Amino acid sequence: MSYNIAIDGPAGAGKSTIAKKLAARLGFVYVDTGAMYRTIALYLLRQGIGPQDEEAIAEAVQKVDVGISYEDGAQQVYLNGENVSSLIRTEKVSQMTSQTSVYLPVREKLVELQKKLAAAENVIMDGRDIGTCVLPNADVKIYMTASVEVRAKRRYLELTQKGAQCSLQEIEQEISERDYRDMHREHSPLRQAEDAVLLDTSELTIEQVVDAMEEIVKARGIFAAWK
Ligand code: DC
Repeated sequence: MSYNIAIDGPAGAGKSTIAKKLAARLGFVYVDTGAMYRTIALYLLRQGIGPQDEEAIAEAVQKVDVGISYEDGAQQVYLNGENVSSLIRTEKVSQMTSQTSVYLPVREKLVELQKKLAAAENVIMDGRDIGTCVLPNADVKIYMTASVEVRAKRRYLELTQKGAQCSLQEIEQEISERDYRDMHREHSPLRQAEDAVLLDTSELTIEQVVDAMEEIVKARGIFAAWK
C-alpha cells in the first residue's frame, strides 16, 4: 500500500516549491502534474494546433506519449521520448496549458498516468484536481493558496532575479486570467475538496509552510505508520 498526499491550489501559491521540500523530508516521490499538462500543450504548440481546436486536440492526444522519470530526485518529463523539462516553463506554454487542459481527452489521458504513479509509490502530488478527482482517497489533502498580489510579486521577483524584464501589473493580470480559467472550466475545475486543509501562504515563509504541512501529515499518523 502506498501513502498519497494531494496538494491543490492556484498558480503561484508555492505548491511545487513546498511539495518538493516536503517530499525530501518524508522520502516521498514528488509528482508535478502541471508539468504533464504543459508537455501536451508544448506538443500542440509545435504542431500548430490552436487552443480552440477541440477536435484536433482530441486526435493529437492519442498520438502523444507523456513519460515521467526521476533524475537525482527531480522529476523529468518526456514528450515522445524527448526530455522537454526545460522547455515547458515559458509564459506562452503556461497560457496554452491553461487553455488546453480544459478538454476531457487531455485530462483522461493524464489522470490515468497520475493514478498509476500514486498506486505504485508514496507520493506528494500537486495540481488542480488531485484531491477532488485524481486521488479522492488521498491520506492527506491540502489546498494551498495566497492572494493574487502576493503570488504575482513572488513570480515577479523570480523573473527579475533571472534578469528578465517584466511588469508586475502584467503578471498579476496573467495570474488572474489563469485562475479564472482553472476555476471555471467544465471538467475538474480547481476547487478545495471538502476534506482538504486550507493553507494560506501569503504571510508565511517557505520553511514555515513546510513545517505546517509536516505537522498536518504527522497529525494523520503518516510518520508513525511508515517511519
Ligand atoms: O501547476 P502549473 O502552473 O504547472 O499548471 C499549469 C496548468 O495546467 C494550469 O493552468 C492548469 C493545468 N493543470 C490542470 O488542469 N490540472 C492539474 N492537475 C495540473 C495543472
